[in-house]
Amino acid sequence: MPLERLISARQLSVDVLHEIFDMARKMRTVCQETGRTNLLADKMIGLVFLEPSSRTLLSFQSAAQRLGAGIVFIQGVGSTSFEKGESLSDAIKVVSGYCDLIVARLPKSGDAQIASDASNVPFINAGDGGNEHPTQSLVDTFTIIEELGALSNLDYAFGFDPLQSRSIHSLCLVLSQFENVGFDFVSPPELKAPGWLIDQCRSRSVRVSESSSLKDLKDPDVIYLNRLQEERFPDRSLFEKYRYEYRLTPDQIPPATRLILDPLPRVDEIALTVDELPIAGYFRQAQNGVYIRMALLAMLLGRSL
Ligand code: NCD
Repeated sequence: MPLERLISARQLSVDVLHEIFDMARKMRTVCQETGRTNLLADKMIGLVFLEPSSRTLLSFQSAAQRLGAGIVFIQGVGSTSFEKGESLSDAIKVVSGYCDLIVARLPKSGDAQIASDASNVPFINAGDGGNEHPTQSLVDTFTIIEELGALSNLDYAFGFDPLQSRSIHSLCLVLSQFENVGFDFVSPPELKAPGWLIDQCRSRSVRVSESSSLKDLKDPDVIYLNRLQEERFPDRSLFEKYRYEYRLTPDQIPPATRLILDPLPRVDEIALTVDELPIAGYFRQAQNGVYIRMALLAMLLGRSL
């Protein structure tokens, strides 16, 4: 069945991934050769972003415009009818009458499903609270495959807030389908990966380990870091307690590490000195966001190059 709504990384089978990657490579060529195409010139994209965003919002805007589509958008609740008490379902129903596809970033876990159910047009979850961020997992896996040539037979380390990082959740869901992968979650004891994620990984034969110190890093091929999710801490003192303790510096990187990724924004989790290493891939990863999101918009609207 063609993908029409992307709510969760659970929908991203290996076949779907490769279809999106093939399309993303074509989109990269478009960007490099002509800058844009008219593939979606007859389409209007609705961007509903109720939580802060830089990369996801701008890369979707760039993607839509490079495909020739128009854009309507809501950014933040302050200037909208949400402020007057309008429900998410009502708002999305209305927006879906103004556009051909909706991309939404929403504050609560589970909001993406509610919004998609209310939408009369294709829908993309651009992050729902601390739950999932499926388009980021596509950007991440595309970057790994472009840089290392494979997603299987690799050991991955994830830090430092696997409890609340939606990017880590979605990426683990996608990677857990691949053969012979190991996940090592590094975090303070209070921020361990949620039980549902560990169970899902183990049920798919992923080798799972957990540690509370960077010193115990095994020998990962890929280190994937995400900032402590400050805005999601019920207790701010916990965030303050750990924010400087969990920071990757060049001397802590095991010699066999081949790639370091971070969905960004970087706050305290990676020292600036790591940026100089060729294995620091996070800015290349951010750029891949445009190609992947061009591919997704085209695919969900039934178009291809
Ligand atoms: C991530 C997010 O919004 O969850 N950012 C992004 O989309 N690149 C990561 C984060 O905010 O920490």
